[in-house]
Amino acid sequence: MKALVLAGGTGSRLRPFTHTGAKQLLPIANKPVLFYALESLAAAGIRDVGIVVGEHGREIRELTGDGAGFGLRITYLQQPQPLGLAHAVLIAGDFLGDDDFLLYLGDNYLQEGVTDFARLAAADPAAARLLLTPVADPSSFGVAEVDAEGNVLGLEEKPDAPRSDLALIGVYAFSRAVHAAVRAIRPSVRGELEITHAVQWMIDRGMRVRADTTTRPWRDTGSVEDMLEVNREVLDGLEGRIEGKVDPHSTLVGRVRVAEGAVVRGSRVVGPVVIGAGAVISNSMVGPYTSIGEDCRVEDSAIEYSVLLRGAQVEGASRIEASLIGRGAVVGPAPRLPQAHRLVIGDHSKVHLTS
Ligand code: TTP
Repeated sequence: MKALVLAGGTGSRLRPFTHTGAKQLLPIANKPVLFYALESLAAAGIRDVGIVVGEHGREIRELTGDGAGFGLRITYLQQPQPLGLAHAVLIAGDFLGDDDFLLYLGDNYLQEGVTDFARLAAADPAAARLLLTPVADPSSFGVAEVDAEGNVLGLEEKPDAPRSDLALIGVYAFSRAVHAAVRAIRPSVRGELEITHAVQWMIDRGMRVRADTTTRPWRDTGSVEDMLEVNREVLDGLEGRIEGKVDPHSTLVGRVRVAEGAVVRGSRVVGPVVIGAGAVISNSMVGPYTSIGEDCRVEDSAIEYSVLLRGAQVEGASRIEASLIGRGAVVGPAPRLPQAHRLVIGDHSKVHLTS
């Protein structure tokens, strides 16, 4: 079985970050979200992985390499334009050949990994296999209608009146039957070749489409709110480890990871928190649920439930929370403006100004 990981796309919900980088490389607990996907594919015993990339493909190639570090063989597939998930499968046709494969959305985080799903797909072959999870608000997801035996009867995209509460998660298993489907379907109203339409095409032709359900945490990291939440969830499972320098005037509470080369001075860090290599935290309060990237600097500040990307600097910020701060961004105090008084004062008045 192969895997196709989708790491192109527009990433409009994560602008401005996606103007300058790939959203799949945004860090969760200081590790790119894409790497969690690659690790879980390797753990499931998959070796051949195609990564579909778009305008930020070069950055993804440089960081991810040939896959050897993950125990994978990675082939990069350039998608000329983000024309949809089914379009990504279409352009990967030569790489996939006749093999069964997992389709994995590269900005999704699945805590349970894909080992069980891949095993089920191998044991019970079907034209397509979907992973579903019950959600409270199905109308904002792709929703599947499933019979008692686990056969998918139909799919709906963001339905007003959902026929079930089972939403599609960003992992699918396909047989080669999907290639005819992605060739046959036409662009949707939003101009994309939709993977849900390809699956529906298979259902309409009587092909076997199966569903598995999970209740384990899963998230799309497509927005800032989602990123911060996934960061929180992953940090919750963090083990503390101090490899950098923490001075005697600092206090660390709970699970805190200080990478080698990081320095914590005169600060209070309340875990779970990760502090990346080369970062300097001084005279500040950090955490909980905060990831400080490599080479960041936090000084005279308080920051919680936030993510700082590599090289970001925060200085003199009395309180920052629920924030995602970009690479090399600088947050500092505004210069104090001289206060001005505009006065209309009658003759012989006395006024005392404090400054
Ligand atoms: P989405 O998050 O659904 O789409 P998007 O990246 O365009 O984001 P937004 O809605 O914020 O504009 O995509 C899911 C994953 O699939 C993500 O990792 C990007 C990837 N993708 C491709 O590789 N090619 C594509 O044509 C599309 C639409 C997405």
